Amino acid sequence: MQTARAHAPGKVILFGEHAVVYHQPAIAVPLAAVQARAEAIPDDLGSGLTVHAPDVNRVLRVTGDLDQSDPLYNALIYPLELALAALNAPVPDLAITIRSSIPIASGLGSGAALATALVRALALALGRPLSNSALNALIYEVEKRHHGNPSGIDNTVIVYERPVYFVRGAPPTPFTIAAPFTFVIGDTGVNSPTHLTVGDVGRLVEAEPERVTPIFAHIGAIADQARAAIEAGCPAALGPLMNENQTLLRALTVSSPELDDLCAAALRAGALGAKLSGGGRGGNMIALVAPDQAPVIAGALRDAGATAVFATTVR
Ligand code: MEV
Repeated sequence: MQTARAHAPGKVILFGEHAVVYHQPAIAVPLAAVQARAEAIPDDLGSGLTVHAPDVNRVLRVTGDLDQSDPLYNALIYPLELALAALNAPVPDLAITIRSSIPIASGLGSGAALATALVRALALALGRPLSNSALNALIYEVEKRHHGNPSGIDNTVIVYERPVYFVRGAPPTPFTIAAPFTFVIGDTGVNSPTHLTVGDVGRLVEAEPERVTPIFAHIGAIADQARAAIEAGCPAALGPLMNENQTLLRALTVSSPELDDLCAAALRAGALGAKLSGGGRGGNMIALVAPDQAPVIAGALRDAGATAVFATTVR
């Protein structure tokens, strides 16, 4: 066994969240500004596999037997148990330290990124690195445990670390970013676990299929138009599409006063478009901005109550 380090980025969904669960296309990009990082160090003989999580001040033991009583089981233990089973490997004597700068339950892919970094570090330390496609399949299983009915977009964009045009069940389609574009991300500071909003949207479509199914299709059509604009090098066209997508997300009941306020503040300050990103009801929103406007819009978001703000450029 050897010392191994691995990382995984956060992610931002640009278009198509929720509708993607119902097989509509969506677009997501990795977010390198926030990361999960894991370091695996061979431990003393017989010490077993431990996960050190200094961010939450915990040390957990991975036994290979299911011990689901720990609240951190899904996030930190289950991915490693799955990986050991997939590799058909006995529990190794290894200490893995995991740290993350990705806020949890905020739509930035924290769960998938933690699992990806942990499993990558474990597989590397065992000298058995996993292909992206094997890793992606494994992290999808972890996502199922986190939120029941995931589309697979979060694990895909995080494992492959590339912008993706994603349709549930189909292989990820990388696409060309013909011209870079910049957006500012604002955090409402409100935790909102994805499984709750995905569950609520599921109940909504069951209750009102005639109203809700066309909303999904409309969101899918927006994602297709957005892909065409990105590939044609016309990112400014994304602004109105983001606003339209946000109106539809509101109709799905997954926006919130905090998200609406931040979107409105960004638009007032000159953003080209704004919408929530991820599961909604809290977490983060994104605003498309002219690059030189990013500081002004970041300031407006802070003034409107965003608890964290940062800008990122997609290339
Ligand atoms: C969460 O990042 C995106 C959702 O569409 C859920 C999913 O696709 O699994 C809300």
